[in-house]
Amino acid sequence: MTKKPVSQVLIALDPGSTEPLYKQLSKALVGAIEQGHFNTAELLPSSRTLANDLGLSRNTVNLALQMLLSDGYITSIPRVGHTVNPDFQAHLNDQPRPRSESLGWERRLATDTSDFGHIWKPANWSTYPYPFIAGQVETDMFPSKSWGRAMRSALIPEHAGASLHDLVDRDDPLLIEMLRRHVLRGRGITAKPEEILITLGSQHGLGLVAAALLGSGSMVAIEEPGYPDARHMVRSRGAAIRALPVDDQGAVIPSDLSDVDMVFVTPSHQYPTNATLSIGRRQALLSQASRDDFVIIEDDYDSEFRYLGQSTPAMKSIENSGRVIYLGSFSKFLAPGLRLGFVVAEPPLIEHLRDLRRYQLRHPPGLLQRALALFIESGDYNRSVRRIRKIYKEKWAAMSAAVETHIPWPVPIPTGGLSIWVTGPPDFDATTMAELAIDQGVVVEAGEPCFVTQPIPRNHFKLGYASTPLPAIEPGLAMLARVIDRLN
Ligand SMILES: Cc1ncc(COP(=O)(O)O)c(C=O)c1O
Repeated sequence: MTKKPVSQVLIALDPGSTEPLYKQLSKALVGAIEQGHFNTAELLPSSRTLANDLGLSRNTVNLALQMLLSDGYITSIPRVGHTVNPDFQAHLNDQPRPRSESLGWERRLATDTSDFGHIWKPANWSTYPYPFIAGQVETDMFPSKSWGRAMRSALIPEHAGASLHDLVDRDDPLLIEMLRRHVLRGRGITAKPEEILITLGSQHGLGLVAAALLGSGSMVAIEEPGYPDARHMVRSRGAAIRALPVDDQGAVIPSDLSDVDMVFVTPSHQYPTNATLSIGRRQALLSQASRDDFVIIEDDYDSEFRYLGQSTPAMKSIENSGRVIYLGSFSKFLAPGLRLGFVVAEPPLIEHLRDLRRYQLRHPPGLLQRALALFIESGDYNRSVRRIRKIYKEKWAAMSAAVETHIPWPVPIPTGGLSIWVTGPPDFDATTMAELAIDQGVVVEAGEPCFVTQPIPRNHFKLGYASTPLPAIEPGLAMLARVIDRLN
């Protein structure tokens, strides 16, 4: 049984008090037991230790211990010492933990996030037989072996400095080089090293850009339906939102955007409809940006997953004004849990984002950066993307067929992305459907949080399939169809 030193427990005695010292000591020891500093598995400090450490006579300490024994707080183990009485411990365990008075945190918080609506899924979504959710992956698709190799290589002496040293505000130069050569080039983007910042995912990139460029009084145009997290990040900077309607060619570009400071778009696969922003609209948006002097955030989170036709080049690759701030992510091509992404923008902005990032977290882990760099350099990254794209293409084909068979309304099937957006008749309640589906083992994301304009429609939902096992697609959608049938 261990014995805890008295120095680890606060025992404050007041020699000037009229209360005898032995009573003060017994009260202090009861307080320490109540706060969990001692338990039945350890010995109290011996009377000699207590006397020495607290500058008391052995008599005073023994009197205090006697009092605790007779009151049943502690028990004596002959020739060993004292420990907390198990009955008293059991009583303490049954007590609700005393809660401290609330400090009125709501009043102290700088931003109010209480009405931010989120895409909801159960925390244990992966245990459901039919998880149709976006933003997650099947863990056994992850290239664990080659990633493990890259992680081990990142620790050999040649790479250990980059992996283990504090980079302060810098990034791993090898990762920057690999991004330039193997990732950005594939998107048609040519960028100098000083135009790239590594982030903990594109959401982190957007948070940094919002912190750098937005404040109260700013206006941001965001697609509606759109990515709720982007909207929330913008709003938490105090900026106002202007909704950009969306159709089958992506965001509709209004002729006047002179009131906005920033436009947030997802051109490759519009979130959540997956429509691809047409080339005409891309050009219209770029011209509009010059005319009305705003910047464009291009969130290119899942560009690699196109199953029909060619990938459209990034907007960043067809502009030379520097107005496009490009957000990239490895969440979809590798795994969201890695938390790795990047921003491409003009050097003065990147330098400022670097400063902001430094005071948040210095830099994304060097070990992850170097491992990713080696993973790309070895060719494993491109192999992995090709393999995963093939699997997703099979899932996309299975989804398209099953949606056609089971969903009772016409559903536009996108040519890429990782989900299918379904719009029911105006009076259909997809939020209730999603709740009922859970009981049948089907997890579906209701579309409500993607909207801002009142009245919020409830007739849309999203069928993600990156994390759905291929064999679960057909029976899962058949099951969903039965739930829809009950509601119709
Ligand atoms: C529109 C959009 N942007 C970005 C991301 C990826 O974010 P991150 O790179 O922070 O994981 C997602 C993932 O769900 C997304 O849906």
